[in-house]
Amino acid sequence: NTGKLWGGRFEGGPSPELDALSRSTHFDWRLTPYDLAGSHAHANVLHAAGLLTDADVAELHRGLTALGERYAAGTLVPAPSDEDVHGALERLLLEEVGAEVGGRLRAGRSRNDQVATLFKAFLRDHARVVAGQVLDLVEALAVQARDHLDVIMPGRTHLQHAQPVLLAHHLLAHAWPLLRDVDRLRDWDTRVAAESPYGSGALAGQSLGLDPEAVAAELGFTGSSANSIDGTAARDFVAEFAFVTAMIGVDVSRFAEEVILWSTREFDFVQLHDSWSTGSSIMPQKKNPDIAELARGKAGRLIGNLSGLLATLKALPLAYNRDLQEDKEPVFDSVDTLEVLLPAFTGMTATLTFNAARMAELAPQGFSLATDIAEWLVREGVPFRVAHEVAGACVRRCEELGIELHELTDDQFAEIDQHLTPGVREVLTAEGSVASRNGRGGTAPERVREQLAELTAVVAHH
Ligand code: ARG
Repeated sequence: NTGKLWGGRFEGGPSPELDALSRSTHFDWRLTPYDLAGSHAHANVLHAAGLLTDADVAELHRGLTALGERYAAGTLVPAPSDEDVHGALERLLLEEVGAEVGGRLRAGRSRNDQVATLFKAFLRDHARVVAGQVLDLVEALAVQARDHLDVIMPGRTHLQHAQPVLLAHHLLAHAWPLLRDVDRLRDWDTRVAAESPYGSGALAGQSLGLDPEAVAAELGFTGSSANSIDGTAARDFVAEFAFVTAMIGVDVSRFAEEVILWSTREFDFVQLHDSWSTGSSIMPQKKNPDIAELARGKAGRLIGNLSGLLATLKALPLAYNRDLQEDKEPVFDSVDTLEVLLPAFTGMTATLTFNAARMAELAPQGFSLATDIAEWLVREGVPFRVAHEVAGACVRRCEELGIELHELTDDQFAEIDQHLTPGVREVLTAEGSVASRNGRGGTAPERVREQLAELTAVVAHH
C-alpha cells in the first residue's frame, strides 16, 4: 500500500509526474478547518448510526481537535506525497489516533461529497466578509454624499455635459448597485445553505443509515441535497459566487474610472489623499490614483475567474469529474483579490477631497441647461416638440456668439422665440435646474436627502 486513499487495487505507486499534476494541497490546504468540521459532524452521524462506539467517536473528536489546533498554530503541514487536503488530513488523523479508529471515519462519505460541502462552507464565510467590506464602501460613499449635499456638478451622458446634478446624487448612484451586490450575496447564501452535499457519497448516496440532515445542521446548513448526483456534481454555487464577485469588481471599477478621470488636471474635480495615492520614481510632481487603477485592472481579473470557471463546467458530464478540482483556484483568487482591494478602495473613497468650486463652475457649462429651457416652455404651454426646437435654437445662437445660455440677453431670447420671456432666467442656473427635478429619484436637494435616508436605512438593516 502506498499510503494513498486509494492504494488497494494498484500494484505500484503513482509516477512522480502524476503526483505533481494531481497534487492540490498547495491551494486547498486552506480548506482544512472546514474539512475538520465536516469530519466532526460525520463522526457524529456514524456514531448515531451505531457504527462508532462512544470511545471511538470521542477519540476521533479528540484527534480532529488536535489537528485543528496544530493548523491554527501553523504547524500542521501536508506532506509532498499527499494528493489533496482530504487525503492529507486522513493521513494525519491516522497518525494522531491510530489506524484502527482513524480508519473508520471514511465510511459512508467520499471526497466528492466532502469537497462540495466544505467548499460551500468556505465560500459562505467569505461571502460574509466580502459583504461587510462592500457595506463599508457603501458607507464611505454615503458619508461623502452627506458631506457634500450642496455641491452641484456636471452630470454626463456619453461623457458629455448633460444636466447638472448634485455630487451626492452621483455618489449615491455608485452606492445602490453595491448594495444590490450585498443582496446578491445574501440571496446566494440562502440557496447554498439549503443544500449540504454530505451524504451524497461519490454520486449515488450512502448505504449506512447516516443522517445527512444532522450533518447539514451541524455545519450550519438549513438542509441537505435532494439528489446525490447533483450534490456532488453541481458547481453553479461556485459560478454564481464568481459572478457576484466579478459584478462587485465591475461596479467598483466604474467609480474607479471616474476617480481616475476626476483627478486629472483637465477635470480637477477631486484630490486624492497622500496616504491613498502614489508617486512616480522619476517624475517628482506625480500623484497617481493607483488604487483606482488597480481596482479597474482587477475587475478584469475577476471577470476572467468567472469565465474560466464557466469554461471548466461547460459540457462536463455528470457526476464528479476531476476537472472539478479546477473550481477552487479561480474563486480563491477572487476572494483574495476583493478582500485586499475593497479596504484600500474604501480608504481612498473616504479621503477624497472634492473641488466644489470647480464642479459648480462647470455644471451650467456646455449648454447643460437647454433641457431646462425646453421644460420651462412646456410649463408655459408650449408643446415639447416645439420647445425642444426653440431650446436647440438658443444653443445654436450661443455657439455662434461663443457664450453660454444664461448670457443671452432678453432681446436675444425674444428674437429666437416670442415665448422666451425674461421669466426663463429662473431656470438658467445650475441651482434652479437641480431644484426643479424634484420627482422621486430626482436630483433636487430634498429628494437626495430623502434618498440618503432611504439608503442609510437599508444599510442599517444589513
Ligand atoms: N481534490 C478533489 C477536488 O478538489 C476532490 C477529490 C475527488 N477526487 C476524486 N478522485 N474523486 O475536487
